[in-house]
Parts: sequence; C-alpha cells; structure tokens
Amino acid sequence: MGDLRIEKLAIDYGARAVIQGLDLDVHDGEMVSLLGPSGAGKTTILKAVAGLLEPSGGNILIDGHSVRGVPPEKRNAVMVFQKPLLFPFMNVSQNIGFGLRMRGQAGGETARHVDHILALTRLEGLSRRKVHELSGGQQQRVALARALVLKPSILLLDEPLSNLDATLRQRMRELIQTIQSETRMTMLFVTHDQSEALMLSHRVALLLDGRLRQVGAPRQLFHHPADPEVARFFGGKNFFQGHIQNGMYHSDFGVFAVGPQDGNGHLRTATIRPEDIRIVPRRAESSGGLAGRIVKTNFEGSATRIVVACSAGELVVLTSQDGFLPGQEVEVTVPPDKLRLFPDA
Ligand SMILES: Nc1ncnc2c1ncn2[C@@H]1O[C@H](COP(=O)(O)OP(=O)(O)OP(=O)(O)O)[C@@H](O)[C@H]1O
Ligand SMILES: [Mg+2]
Repeated sequence: MGDLRIEKLAIDYGARAVIQGLDLDVHDGEMVSLLGPSGAGKTTILKAVAGLLEPSGGNILIDGHSVRGVPPEKRNAVMVFQKPLLFPFMNVSQNIGFGLRMRGQAGGETARHVDHILALTRLEGLSRRKVHELSGGQQQRVALARALVLKPSILLLDEPLSNLDATLRQRMRELIQTIQSETRMTMLFVTHDQSEALMLSHRVALLLDGRLRQVGAPRQLFHHPADPEVARFFGGKNFFQGHIQNGMYHSDFGVFAVGPQDGNGHLRTATIRPEDIRIVPRRAESSGGLAGRIVKTNFEGSATRIVVACSAGELVVLTSQDGFLPGQEVEVTVPPDKLRLFPDA
C-alpha cells in the first residue's frame, strides 16, 4: 500500500507561514507532480511528508495512519533530494545497498536486491565505480536506485532531474515513468517544469505561494485552468476583458459564440493560447479575421512566436509556419471553441 493524505497542512519558518491549510491526496499506485515556481514551498511539503520537518498544523496520513511523531526511517516514505547525497568512499553497489544493510538485511539478499535495482535503473555496468567516477546524471540515477531498493510505500522525488541536460533529462523521465508503471509505487514528484509535470504524472498539483491552486489531470490544468494565474503558469498569454450577452462573448477582440453561460452582462476575463490562434498574411480579400501588423518574431525551433498588434491590443501567436516577418500585415483568427472564459473575479 502507499496511500498519502495531507490534511490542512500548515508549516511556518519562524514567524513566516510558508504553507497554509494545504490538502492533497496521493492514491496508492499514483504518480502526482507537485508543480510550482521557485520558493512556492515544494521542498518544504516533501520534507514534512518525509518527517524531516515538523508541521505547525494539520495532519499527514500514510496508509490511513497519522505519522505525527513517527521518525523518518519508520514512515515508509523515502525522499530523493535534488542534489544526490551519495557516500563518496563507497562504490555504486555499496551506495545502493547501504539502506538495506542498515536494516540488518543479510549480505546475499542485499546483493540480489541491489542487482535487481541496478538493472531497473540501467546502471549494471557501473556497479564497481566510485561516486567521483560518475557523471552527474549517473549520480542521480544512483540516488534514485538507492531509494527504490528500500521499496518505500511512497517515493518523494525533489526535482531529481534538474541538473541534467535536455537529452538525459528526457531519458530519465522515461525511466522514472517505466519504473513507476512497473512497480506501481506511489510517487510525489516535485518539479518547477510544467512540461515535465504534464508528461510524467497521472495528476498535477499546482502550488503557488504555498497554496494549491488547482489539482487535476494534466489536460485539465492545461486546457481548463481554474484562473488566469494558473493559465499563465502553463504559458498562457492573450488575456482580455469582455462580457457575456445571450451566449455571445463581447470583447475588443471581437464577438465570439460561447454558448449559454451564467452571469449575463458581468465583466469576464478570457484567454486564448498562442498556438490556438490562426495567422495568415493579409490579402486583398479578407479571411474574416482580425487585421494586425507583426511587431516581432522569435524562432523557437519547432514553432515561431509572433507578436501581432491589432487595434484592440497585442496578441501572441505561436505557429509552425515559417516566413512571417516584422512589419508584415496579417490577419489573425481566434476560434471561439478555444476561448477560455474564467468565472467572475
Ligand atoms: N529553513 C528555512 N528557514 C526559513 N525559510 C525557509 C527555509 N527553507 C525554505 N524557506 C523559505 O520557504 C519558502 C519555500 O521554500 P521551499 O524550499 O519549500 O521552496 P521550493 O518550492 O522547493 O523552491 P525551489 O523550486 O527553489 O526549490 C521560500 O520562500 C524559502 O525561502
Ligand atoms: Mg525545492
């Protein structure tokens, strides 16, 4: 089993409240990402679950039992730190087997478990190497292996991939995903990288300033952000104001059919993601879109980011089409079904 329940968690550093009234459930066998910007309180929450820090309020339950006062080694929740803390005088196998030996497990059995984890984390060839003979990515894999071998109910991963280059990071993500689906281990994975969270987890919990702003499936947070701040965190741009009248959203950027909605007449914020806006060069015959002029273009590899000045203001557009240039006259179209309206502020 590996059921984690965090109830009304409060954590203070001195007089400063860092976490306030936080509730989060991570179900047995689930992979949840705790996503948030630097300083949001992600590490603080993991430490509280691991037992490395005393909360000032609330409760943490593992498999239905409160772990208040339970020391870290008895919690069955193991934390992998952002910077691998390995024993420099031990080789890879000895590092991985350390926790098992501390538990008093016999040598033969420890060796068998270590071999299994070495294979799982693709470290077989490195078992006799010393820590200083490993690359940063290999060290992170050893740190992961050392936690996995203990078969914790809950694995707490604190940005374990943050020091890796893009290719290795992608490989490690896939490795963690494979391990998670093979072992069905409950994992709480901390990251500040939205694409990492979306890719890796069953559910994402977005933490801003010590509060969970939205918890849900990756697609839910990405396509249906609860508020403009959540949308912004996921790369949302193009926020504007308007009001609903009989199923139509009226704004400076146009009138859009949005279907029946509550709050006729109230001011509502809307957003449209840059990749959902269509852009074409302006021709003599209008395509029916909004007229605008390109202010700047930024090539980003798989897409180009374009800022378009329309009479109502600027729109940011992301397109895979090439050939747009600053100063060019264009037309942009906002598909009404891609418009996201937020509840009244
Ligand atoms: N020991 C401490 N004493 C006082 N304040 C602390 C302590 N540790 C962290 N903080 C503060 O608490 C807040 C949350 O810190 P935390 O380390 O949990 O953030 P984080 O989300 O993990 O950030 P990062 O992504 O940079 O690792 C920050 O404002 C930080 O400065
Ligand atoms: Mg941190």
